[in-house]
Amino acid sequence: MIYSRITGTGGHLPEKVLTNRDLEQMVETSDQWIRERTGIAERHIAAPDETTCDLAEPAARRAMEAAGVGPDDIDLILVATTTPDQVFPSTACLLQQRLDIHGCAAFDIQAVCTGFIYALGVADRFIRTGGARRALVVGAETLSRIVDWTDRGTCVLFGDGAGAVVLEASETPGILSSHLHADGRYEQLLRVPAGVSSHYDRLRAGEAFVQMKGNEVFKVAVNTLGRIVDETLAANALEKGDVDWLIPHQANIRIIQATARKLKLSMERVVVTVDRHGNTSAASVPLALDVAVRDGRVRRGETLLMEAFGGGFTWGSVLLKF
Ligand code: ACO
Repeated sequence: MIYSRITGTGGHLPEKVLTNRDLEQMVETSDQWIRERTGIAERHIAAPDETTCDLAEPAARRAMEAAGVGPDDIDLILVATTTPDQVFPSTACLLQQRLDIHGCAAFDIQAVCTGFIYALGVADRFIRTGGARRALVVGAETLSRIVDWTDRGTCVLFGDGAGAVVLEASETPGILSSHLHADGRYEQLLRVPAGVSSHYDRLRAGEAFVQMKGNEVFKVAVNTLGRIVDETLAANALEKGDVDWLIPHQANIRIIQATARKLKLSMERVVVTVDRHGNTSAASVPLALDVAVRDGRVRRGETLLMEAFGGGFTWGSVLLKF
């Protein structure tokens, strides 16, 4: 039986930090409101000339270094992003070029905040069916580019960053299961209603922004993530309490706490970065994983549940032995 196993992690954040106090100068908000309603204290924002691929590259290099692999060892590159550098080539191909990797399949995955979970699920299927042996899986975003900095309902939430893992074929587990879902009927609750083939004028004018009915998204997110926890545990015949670490998408501390309660996990067993990173969309789960691996909390052999929910709506989970 072939499994896929994470052998290295990496992360990268842009240098500029935007605090809640900074946001108080930009919109009608307060540090207290943002902390209480979201758990966010600060987030990192890419410099004007810094692209998604600029963030992805150091994260990928760190993951490859941690795994002890070089450019010739990678035979699949997946980049989960909603904010690609260009219409094409894909950010995965741009990253491939930067890393001096040539010939292997490379493509982007667009599932907004669930993008990394989707990418990990796809890479796992490639590896288990013999289509690849060593994949570089990245979540990278410059979401600040599609945020309306005059809309206090959204601009306080998001940040930029990148996280990456190397996923390798292995005889020992590995990813135990992945669960990927979407339901497009919720489009109106969370979207950027502009793109290349619709409302291109907004894109050209730099007015393609996240629109979100936050309160309604919140309720669906909490219920849906509760269900994905049940689905994941049932698929692996596990009980609540068998999971060592929850590594959730970092959208809102209250959503994270609700999922932890569902799992009967104390918050000490939950990796939280939303306070320092905000919501970095597809980058949030691999960034959180990298933080917890590097500070020694997450250890080899432990059982990790990763989950995410985002625009689409999309949602999903990955259960793995680290
Ligand atoms: N500062 C101060 N007040 C604010 C702010 C702000 N930044 N934003 C909203 N408010 C006000 C509202 O105007 C409202 O005022 P009113 O009662 O006078 O009308 C009040 O605060 C409450 O607003 P709600 O939207 O009900 O606040 P809520 O407690 O729901 O928190 C939040 C809002 C943080 C956005 C929350 O709903 C949330 O986290 N939603 C889910 C986000 C999410 O998970 N998205 C999915 C991933 S993102 C992606 O895929 C791109």
